[in-house]
Amino acid sequence: MTSLKVEVAALKLSNPTILASGVMDETAASLLNMARAGAGAVVTKSIGSEPRKGYPNPTLVELDWGYINAMGLPNPGIEAFAEEMRLARGCPAPVIGSIFASSAKEFSFLASKMQDYGAAAVELNLSCPHAKGYGMELGVDPEMVSAVVREVKSVCSIPVFAKLTPNTHQLMEVAKAAEAAGCDAIVAVNTVKAMAISVEMRRPILSNKGGGLSGPAIKPIGLRCVYDLHSTLNIPIIGVGGVEDWRDAVEYIMAGASAVQVGSAVGRVGLNVFELICTGMKEFMVREGFESVSQMVGVAHE
Ligand code: SIN
Repeated sequence: MTSLKVEVAALKLSNPTILASGVMDETAASLLNMARAGAGAVVTKSIGSEPRKGYPNPTLVELDWGYINAMGLPNPGIEAFAEEMRLARGCPAPVIGSIFASSAKEFSFLASKMQDYGAAAVELNLSCPHAKGYGMELGVDPEMVSAVVREVKSVCSIPVFAKLTPNTHQLMEVAKAAEAAGCDAIVAVNTVKAMAISVEMRRPILSNKGGGLSGPAIKPIGLRCVYDLHSTLNIPIIGVGGVEDWRDAVEYIMAGASAVQVGSAVGRVGLNVFELICTGMKEFMVREGFESVSQMVGVAHE
């Protein structure tokens, strides 16, 4: 019997597609919708200690091959998010709480809140490419990443995932530091630093000027990162970056991912993207004689 079930760092998923942080995930209602649409797990919007408005518009540019966004980590703050997490209890798929912070102590405070609120795992946003004092400003430093993961692991019994940035030559060192500090899985990769300019306005389109590129444009970058991480790490990897169809998902899995996150494709393809990926992947597995997803993980290295 061909099965799409996967286990990632003790999380049991009905299939290997996970809603990526930042897309339709700020309320319980949208998280439940995505789970009902077929996601094997859902990740929340990145939540910080205090409410945050984010950057003024424009915050998103649509391109042929993806999006450039710079939202500025808008969120209601961890206290207010308790209510959304309460309403999301009973979600048919595990809910993973994404958090961002400026220090190891603040990360551990937020992680223990997410655990109290019922999150199945916590995802550390160490990779937002443009928020001052947050994200990749911490996440390109292996020592800082090690300190953050260690601190979070000391207060959390749920699995801890680190979402890393491709905007560094030190990705392997950062990932190894996270693994050595007890991280349960690596999520690779967040968006790639990018910009778009309006020639009529004669200036960058985004109010923040720079942003992060997602979607099919970055799939080859994410894939290469996952391939290299698989050669380097022993913990599971969750692949993200331009997954739009079953073939993209299988590529990531063959590169070494145990599961994949889907973000931009929710907007580009539609809510049925999870179902389409799963149907196509199952048909491929039957054709090729794979009985489980785990049989495909890393086969491109053999
Ligand atoms: C944003 O809120 O601007 C994006 C967050 C991220 O890229 O991690």
